[in-house]
Amino acid sequence: MNKGWRFIDQQGTFELPNPHHTNYLYFPLLNEAGMISSITPTLNGDLKTNQNTFLLEPTSVEDLHNNRSSRNFWLRVNGNVIWSVTGSSAKQTASRFSPGEDKVTLIAGFLWHTVIRENSSVGLKAEVTNFVPAGKDTAELMRVTITNTSDKKLTVIPTAAVPMYARSADNLRDHRHVTSLLNRITCTDQGVLVKPTLSFDERGHIKNETTYAVLGVEEDGTEPVGFFPDTETFIGEGGMLDWPLAVIGDDVPVSPPGTLVQGYEAMGGIRFAEIELEPNEERSYILILSILDGGLEVSSLLDRFATASHFSSELERTKDYWRAKISGLSFKTGDLQFDNWLRWVALQPVLRRRIGNSFLPYHDYGRGGRGWRDLWQDTLALLFIDHRDVSEILLNHFAGVRMDGSNATIIGINSGDFKADRNNIPRVWMDHGLWPLLTTHLYINQSGNLNFLLQEQVYFKDYLSHRARQRDADWSPDDGTLVRTAAGKIYRGSVLEHILIQHLTAFYNVGEHNNILLEDADWNDALDMANQRGESVAFTAFYSGNLRILGELCLALANQGVKSISLASEIIDLLDTLSTPIDYQSVSNKNERLQHYFDLTSHTVSGVKRDVSLEHLAGDLFQKADWLAQHIQNEEWIENGHESGWFNSYYDNQGQRVEGVFEDQVRMMLTGQVFTLMFGIASDAQARKIVQSADRYLFDTSVGGYRLNTDFGESVSELGRVFGFAFGHKENGAMFSHMATMYANALYKRNLVKEGWKVLKNIFDQSQHFSVSRMYPGIPEYFSPRGRGMYPYLTGSASWYLLTMLTEVYGVRGDLGQLVLEPKLTREQFGPDGIVSVDTLFAKKKMNVRYHNPEALDYGQYILTEITANGVLILKAGTHPSAVIPAEIFSSYEEPIMLEVMLGPKES
Ligand code: G1P
Repeated sequence: MNKGWRFIDQQGTFELPNPHHTNYLYFPLLNEAGMISSITPTLNGDLKTNQNTFLLEPTSVEDLHNNRSSRNFWLRVNGNVIWSVTGSSAKQTASRFSPGEDKVTLIAGFLWHTVIRENSSVGLKAEVTNFVPAGKDTAELMRVTITNTSDKKLTVIPTAAVPMYARSADNLRDHRHVTSLLNRITCTDQGVLVKPTLSFDERGHIKNETTYAVLGVEEDGTEPVGFFPDTETFIGEGGMLDWPLAVIGDDVPVSPPGTLVQGYEAMGGIRFAEIELEPNEERSYILILSILDGGLEVSSLLDRFATASHFSSELERTKDYWRAKISGLSFKTGDLQFDNWLRWVALQPVLRRRIGNSFLPYHDYGRGGRGWRDLWQDTLALLFIDHRDVSEILLNHFAGVRMDGSNATIIGINSGDFKADRNNIPRVWMDHGLWPLLTTHLYINQSGNLNFLLQEQVYFKDYLSHRARQRDADWSPDDGTLVRTAAGKIYRGSVLEHILIQHLTAFYNVGEHNNILLEDADWNDALDMANQRGESVAFTAFYSGNLRILGELCLALANQGVKSISLASEIIDLLDTLSTPIDYQSVSNKNERLQHYFDLTSHTVSGVKRDVSLEHLAGDLFQKADWLAQHIQNEEWIENGHESGWFNSYYDNQGQRVEGVFEDQVRMMLTGQVFTLMFGIASDAQARKIVQSADRYLFDTSVGGYRLNTDFGESVSELGRVFGFAFGHKENGAMFSHMATMYANALYKRNLVKEGWKVLKNIFDQSQHFSVSRMYPGIPEYFSPRGRGMYPYLTGSASWYLLTMLTEVYGVRGDLGQLVLEPKLTREQFGPDGIVSVDTLFAKKKMNVRYHNPEALDYGQYILTEITANGVLILKAGTHPSAVIPAEIFSSYEEPIMLEVMLGPKES
């Protein structure tokens, strides 16, 4: 059995013996300059700055064990022993699991990767460390330190070998050979540079300005003795990348600096001088793998990185950078393993904000863009982790909203950069309208900045209108991507207006069962084949909850003295109770009202605004929220005996209800339960039944907890590609962390604390159960039917896990700028000393909250008896399980604010 990783400090550093005995493992290395690297225990993986600029050949997960194009560093010892310090030689691969195999340990931290490999019969130990230096350099650095572990002097000839793909990922299949003809390869004093003449990719054939570099020096900066600049020569006839003739034979001459090779596959082959190593003596080599763009020069890389001491100081700087990046949120529970694991979860939203859902081996789709839903959800965690003012980021995001409530689907790297659809595949996800409010609400609660709702922003415009059901023939790309008034002025509306449009258009956009239409999918991207008659009851519940929250925010603004808000006159009809009321039972009335609004706003808007009382506005929103909630309650509950029952989540494209108890199968989905619980649509009695049903039909401890659905087999044909996936995989019935974590969040909101913790705990347990999950610390997107952690690092579940830990488990959250403390910690979550704590940010101030539970009381048994802030008593003889600290008190303290919270028994 593989022992799995263990943390070796309190900073998340972990160690894994025999990492190469597990497949599909990879680790991310990146920086803000846009360098993104994936690296495996045998130093496979790839390196790129974007879809069109890969230095190492792009890798999908299957390539990680198939591909020989990995970073390599060869040693020829005493003339005839060949040893790869990365283990990537045919011989070492063949000797895996045999008694003479290398002893290998991986050690990794934020964000660096070290593999230590030793072989006593070779008499050498090699320690190989890779990282991408924090800062503006598009480079990965690699240090190889070899030590003579034998008792004899060894002669060693080192050769670095990094195959240089040096082109667009598009050329992996498309013109792989022809694009090698573009290569102009030169050997400099320190390495190999490739500058293709042209780049062939989706942009067409364009002049290439990028240079790809593999440079190498000895520890003191000594230059190599020569180079192998192309693959054909390096591997030799009959040789392979994992058994190259340039290393194993004597016939391949090295090329001197100044050599130019044109039109061949490039190789960063670097021959260093032969050395003699005495017993215990060590020697280091530094490699720099870089993509030179935007004025970055080889000389600058060499100046800053090309000695062992530069390498070490850059490594420390990079470790500090990442530690600081995630230090905003850190938990101390009674379980050190869990606390360290949570640090890796805290890194995940940061990673996804940088690289979206592309560019790591499981994420072999997309071209680097970010998804709308992810854009907002990844910002959730940022509110606790990042010191910056998030309001500007949020405001920029709102510029992506269309006048019909949908949004731009192509999102650029820079904040607020939205582009017209270039693929001409119009798609609308019905859930997209509700994520902005979720994040904005959290922001307002944390900051108290209600006025954010009044800030103005533009709207996005392209050829799509009527939620992509019609095209605006009058629009041309030359018109730009901003909504204008009929008079040609750029139109702006408040954030509140943007959110209103998102929710009101959804409210009227209902299908035959009067639930909101599924359109091209909801949160579940794979429910993509029911865009005519499909309905998402699950997300109708979410819209209902949001409409209520929006109404409450309007009232809060009114309480602050903002009596009215100015709205585009076209919207007034959608506030039907304030204009011409319609019958909500009538699907056609709703659809007509919406069509009229779409027609009015499809090309331009009038630019006329009308003032609306915030109180009246809130009233209208509450009516809509209540109607939806009641409708779901009346129509969608599935009773299954007196013990169990749940809400139907969907209607398919034939208008048929998806869930229920059928003759040959029980069909239940988690999604429909999550939002009916979260927003109080399910009654307490129903909540208990839902939990029982989920435990009975969805819970499976071997895959980390609650599955997304039961096995529907082939019975649902018209809902989405999801039912083409085999059961238990991804969105078809896996334990999908994102929805499971939202389920946990909803359970906590309903004070079903033990039940909520069960969800979170199972995900953690499965993740750290290495012999099955085979993943590094962190939360995966899902677990496969065999229990393997899939799609690690880039998943929205990380944000939700942290959000739930902080605002529900620890109960540390904002309420319009006031700090609320409402712990929902169970007895088992306190350490042996009865104390748990969390470091976080609140109202942009650093804060540490420590709960003391000296009597080992369980949730439900304790109240908050006393609170001190920086040693000053602010709550004495409390009697409630929660407390509110007004914003004024909070803001009067210098940071970091230390809150000590005493828990004592509740009077029975
Ligand atoms: C992924 C997507 C997310 C989507 C989910 C379900 O989940 O990123 O937007 O809602 O699939 O289709 P994630 O990888 O974030 O866990």
